[in-house]
Amino acid sequence: MKIVIGSDHGGYELKLEIIKHLTERGFEVKDIGCDSPASCDYPIYAKAAVKEIQSGDAELGILICGTGIGMSMAANKEDGIRAALCHDVFSAKATREHNDANILCMGARVIGPGLAELVVDTFLDTPFSNDERHVRRISLYS
Ligand code: RB5
Repeated sequence: MKIVIGSDHGGYELKLEIIKHLTERGFEVKDIGCDSPASCDYPIYAKAAVKEIQSGDAELGILICGTGIGMSMAANKEDGIRAALCHDVFSAKATREHNDANILCMGARVIGPGLAELVVDTFLDTPFSNDERHVRRISLYS
């Protein structure tokens, strides 16, 4: 499975840890930036990651900023994107099963690397339920 990942400066260090973790797990990971801890604008990276998903080049995405909030707001403006801000395993599992979320957003100033890895693993390893009620509910806002 190909994963696209992006961050701003606030999420840069955590992003590097997540890339290492996912590469060790055997995922193909495309990092669309940022490329340093220098201050930058998170919507640029949210939009770049979204393009990878909209084109079908990546199946799922991960976006990390300081809080995860700006990334989730920016990503959710775009067609076909269901970005979920999750800092716990229960939410990461539920948003895949119920919302078919295609982007996980996290805040590096909110969550530590150990829990972030568990949240990422849960998000990537949980399939959409395909239950009729969830398909219907998603169609009501897509
Ligand atoms: C950057 O200081 C911070 O605003 C950004 O990383 C993010 O938290 C925005 O939502």
